[in-house]
Amino acid sequence: MKREIYYKLGPRFRRIARRIYYFPVDLYDSITGKRNTLTPPKGRVFIGSGDFTNQGTRILKQMKELGGLKPDDRVLDVGCGIGRLAVPLTQYLSTNGSYEGFDIVKSGIRWCLKHIHPSYPNFNFKHVDLKNDLYNLKTETKAKDFVFPYNNEEFDFVFLTSVFTHMLPEDVEGYLSQIYRVLKNGSICFCTFFILNEESKKLMNASDGIRFNLNFGNYYLHDINVKEANVAFDEDYLKTLFTTGGFTVNRISYGYWSGRNKNASVDFQDIVVLKKVLPAK
Ligand SMILES: C[S@@+](CC[C@H](N)C(=O)[O-])C[C@H]1O[C@@H](n2cnc3c(N)ncnc32)[C@H](O)[C@@H]1O
Repeated sequence: MKREIYYKLGPRFRRIARRIYYFPVDLYDSITGKRNTLTPPKGRVFIGSGDFTNQGTRILKQMKELGGLKPDDRVLDVGCGIGRLAVPLTQYLSTNGSYEGFDIVKSGIRWCLKHIHPSYPNFNFKHVDLKNDLYNLKTETKAKDFVFPYNNEEFDFVFLTSVFTHMLPEDVEGYLSQIYRVLKNGSICFCTFFILNEESKKLMNASDGIRFNLNFGNYYLHDINVKEANVAFDEDYLKTLFTTGGFTVNRISYGYWSGRNKNASVDFQDIVVLKKVLPAK
């Protein structure tokens, strides 16, 4: 119920409400110097709840262990938010490595440009104005036709953490083709999803966690009014998308969002590791 009310506020008011709610804590943290300069104030973190630093560190570990991320890689963070992964990456990527991130929320990119880029010039951030009914209602421009502002075969590692969980199928399809284009051959895309298969449907229906009861065939929604609030995909549909898009699936680690045993899962969302393969001649 709390979630539904929160979605109804709209992106701008949600961000304002968050800043007001966390104002006392943020003021205390800045007066006492408790917060380091690379950590945004809680009121500015629009990307979800949980500990910003711990989550970033945990996901970086997964990208190394499951995705094979290396210090010298050139990486692309699609939907980089307010730098939750960029911050720990500043301590992991070498000076031979480099980072590009883009997002549709201007305030997050502004924060990263002000607080991360000056000390880490090999970290760059771009704002792109695309519509998403959870995050950006200021434009009607669709994500499905967006051409990533990078060259072909530029990246060793592309990642999207909790981004495809907020996108509809035609946009995911467009993004996968862009990811294929900008990845070097044999390189990795690490991404997270809510994946529905027989097992996760059963678990979800028996649990009191997040529900995707609105069935649109290939995809399922949590909330009909804010469609991109949370999107789940049918597993067979996704696998077809990946293979027709030129990827092999290196790994799927199912998460505990559906009610799966937490100890048997790597994280809350399902993690997918894709590898770009060139078509056979
Ligand atoms: C839950 S947040 C995750 C942010 C970041 N990946 C992280 O793990 O901290 C989802 C992010 O996806 C971004 N987003 C949604 N649709 C997008 C799109 N079409 N292109 C780029 N970013 C998008 C949102 O603005 C938001 O920052």
